[in-house]
Amino acid sequence: MPKRTILHLEQLHKSYSVEGKDFPVLENIDLTIKSPEIVSIVGRSGCGKTTLLNVIAGFLQPTHGKVYLDGKEVHANDQRIPMIFQQDTVFPWLTVHKNLTINPLVNAEESHQWLEHVELGEKKHIHPKFLSGGMRKRVEMARAFAGKPPMVLADEPFGFLDPVTKRRLQGLLSEVWAKQRTIVLFSTHDVEESLILSDRVVVLGGSPARIQRIISIPFLRPRPESLRFEPEFQHLRKEVEEILEMK
Ligand SMILES: Nc1ncnc2c1ncn2[C@@H]1O[C@H](COP(=O)(O)OP(=O)(O)OP(=O)(O)O)[C@@H](O)[C@H]1O
Ligand SMILES: [Mg+2]
Repeated sequence: MPKRTILHLEQLHKSYSVEGKDFPVLENIDLTIKSPEIVSIVGRSGCGKTTLLNVIAGFLQPTHGKVYLDGKEVHANDQRIPMIFQQDTVFPWLTVHKNLTINPLVNAEESHQWLEHVELGEKKHIHPKFLSGGMRKRVEMARAFAGKPPMVLADEPFGFLDPVTKRRLQGLLSEVWAKQRTIVLFSTHDVEESLILSDRVVVLGGSPARIQRIISIPFLRPRPESLRFEPEFQHLRKEVEEILEMK
């Protein structure tokens, strides 16, 4: 069991400067997440989900406020936090295996294990151009979780996939998470995805965006596919969609 990680966002504000004018995007974001927890961020397009993840990863500097990981402030270009993106970010010039071992924290044995977890053990010595989009997404998932990161961030990780592949990878993400039990924080447009995967759903809304509501998801894991059709699931889905429509 890896040690417990705590992510703490304290009074985060983020503004962009657009043609010399201040353009506030995020305001008063306070949130604490402890491992093992999967948390999703939902909100309308343009509300600031990617901005928030980029601030948490240390890719962007907050305008005010701080991000703490295990009590230490996360600074720009902090390399400890992997992120899975919507677009393909597999390194095409490296084999599947070397996409993982390029991280100095990941040895050959760990790479092998993680590729087995995402059902790509047999593809490890080939180049990504021979893989489907869904398989490449699995390489990204293995790459993110290998090397024992304190948390894994994902920005609409399954946004470009067809519905069947998407459901399969959602299932695989919860299986992979169950092996490592790090914090997973991901953004999505897809309310059903947020409910099936997360322990808590953070609904962002308004302009600048604030946290409108944090909804705890009561379903036990592992969560079967059929959960999507349960009345309680549908009820929560309606609750989240109503907040999104208002904001
Ligand atoms: N580098 C930037 N400079 C100025 N404004 C930006 C920049 N990046 C994003 N924005 C603006 O900040 C707001 C939030 O953008 P962001 O990409 O975080 O939203 P999002 O919720 O991820 O949207 P989507 O769901 O479409 O991915 C938008 O109004 C966008 O135009
Ligand atoms: Mg985005």
